Amino acid sequence: MLSTIPKTLTSSARAARNQLFQTLKILTIADDQQRRNITGDIISPGQVLGIDHLRDPRLNKGLGFTLEERQALGIHGLQPARFKTQEEQLELCRISIERYQEDLNKYIYLTELQDRNEKLFFRLLSENIESLMPIVYTPTVGLACQKFGLIYRRPRGLFITINDIGHVFDVLKNWPEPNVKAIVVTDGERILGLGDLGACGMGIPVGKLALYTALAGIKPHECLPIVLDVGTNNQNLLEDPLYVGLRQKRTTGKLYDDFVDEFMEAVVQRYGQNTLIQFEDFGNHNAFRFLNAYREQYCTFNDDIQGTASVAVSGLLASKRLTNKKLSDNKFLFLGAGEAAIGIADLTVKALENEGLSTEEARGRIWMVDIDGLLALDRPEGNLDGHKKLYAKKHEPIKDFAAIVNEIKPSILIGASAVSGAFTPEILKNMSTFNERPIIFALSNPTSKAECTAEQAYTHTEGRAIFASGSPFGKVHFGDKLFQPGQGNNAYIFPGVALGVLLAGIHHINEQIFLIASETVASNVSDEDLKRGSLYPPLSSIKECSMQIACQILEYAYKERIASVYPKPKDMRKYVESHQYNHNYEPSLPQTWPWPNPPYIKTRPLEPTKLKA
Ligand code: NAI
Repeated sequence: MLSTIPKTLTSSARAARNQLFQTLKILTIADDQQRRNITGDIISPGQVLGIDHLRDPRLNKGLGFTLEERQALGIHGLQPARFKTQEEQLELCRISIERYQEDLNKYIYLTELQDRNEKLFFRLLSENIESLMPIVYTPTVGLACQKFGLIYRRPRGLFITINDIGHVFDVLKNWPEPNVKAIVVTDGERILGLGDLGACGMGIPVGKLALYTALAGIKPHECLPIVLDVGTNNQNLLEDPLYVGLRQKRTTGKLYDDFVDEFMEAVVQRYGQNTLIQFEDFGNHNAFRFLNAYREQYCTFNDDIQGTASVAVSGLLASKRLTNKKLSDNKFLFLGAGEAAIGIADLTVKALENEGLSTEEARGRIWMVDIDGLLALDRPEGNLDGHKKLYAKKHEPIKDFAAIVNEIKPSILIGASAVSGAFTPEILKNMSTFNERPIIFALSNPTSKAECTAEQAYTHTEGRAIFASGSPFGKVHFGDKLFQPGQGNNAYIFPGVALGVLLAGIHHINEQIFLIASETVASNVSDEDLKRGSLYPPLSSIKECSMQIACQILEYAYKERIASVYPKPKDMRKYVESHQYNHNYEPSLPQTWPWPNPPYIKTRPLEPTKLKA
């Protein structure tokens, strides 16, 4: 590279260059794709000089800068002499993380790494999915949200408050990146199983988008986390001096709806019609309303409803290889009829239709129970609004869940009720008398809310249960068998769906897309996975699942003529790869720029040496 740098500069060229450097030092706009100086000219990363280069997480390589880069960028002497490869830096990161006893401290370390050196952060996360995903995502992200006021250091994401109504577009314009393609948005009303956390919910969009990049290679500068802060009804937060959101009760009704409408319109105005908007952790009553209102107008999906459904149905599809039954040979009983359960039921209907059942026949196979008992058409409590009425049966009202199980005799039991221990030993035993291989999904999070543990599922069914959960469970010994059940983690689904949708330029995300994702994940489950009791592939294979989901969605989109990016790529995998983020360091100097001959290369980079713990 240095051979392209002229050895000498005329004094006028040097003066012009120095003047430009002064300007650029002041103006470092945070987008490595299209940085612009004050006159609007695009500038390259090599033109952000001096300490600003080190302070910009998108450009910083820490001790990874070569001596030539340090001198040409004006950062020579601002760091110790040692040169490190990215691999050596990763090793140091791993050692650093292991030194922290508490997961929240690991979370803070990773956040600070992301603020300091973006490529290193994403490479670390991407290469250590199994150990680090539980830190940047569930369960630790839940704790990070609860402690958000305490651990908040630097801005990440956009906070748009109800007071900004009428000016949402102006707030969006303050976001420094011009090429946003994917937004994850929450209003913080129902964060995981933790309830209303108001503006502290920001941890969720931040964590989900970190997975967009780490698991699907969507570029970080294309991702924007957003909190719509409409207040909180969490009295503890309202009284907490550390709370950083609006200190008022939630705005509801027309004003709230107008605010969300304005937000959706402002996103399209700022970033275009194809911007993907993922809804996260909105309250149940709003989640379905917004999904129904926006799914045909915007490029949007709700991960709690559709992502959960997709990963659960994926587990059901994989279970067919253990039961040797068609999906339509089953009778499904759900405990819970909320966002997660209804989403799963709706997508299961689609999967059953694909096996040849009519919609009515498919819905007939699905029985649901909520807090008021079996969804029965004539139950005195009513409460059969929305999609619930689609699953309500002509049956006498019945409340006791154990009695319902005995009455319906399902082959598949799915828990999404957040009622800990609801699948009692008696219920599990009965399931194993009705079925050779009873299918038990205890999807409620966190672990303490699961309807039963993995151990209980195996113990009370003589080890015949086919089990999956929402939270991870460890290995279970039963007799001479060792089970290692899989976790129905939405991360198998949403990054790949987002990647495929963005690269195909799909305007509206239909249910078939989530079914494609389910089938793709199920097809990645090996015989070994099934043998150890897992209906999901290992977490370490999520990146490959994301790639395959994206390719399948692209094929589907071109076949169904819902793609808007033309011409159709010849090789889908190569096309996807060519658009993915590269987390490896790249040269920091441009090939053609009148760099001065580095004036004093006296020290050579030190030989990399192995780090000791
Ligand atoms: P939700 O609040 O929308 O629904 C809860 C449902 O459970 C309601 O229908 C309610 O009536 C019912 N319920 C509550 N108590 C009951 C009782 N004693 N008996 C019978 N039914 C009862 O909540 P959402 O969003 O559907 O989440 C439910 C659970 O599923 C949560 O624990 C959540 O963490 C988990 N979930 C798991 C996911 C996964 O595994 N990937 C993804 C999303 C949610």
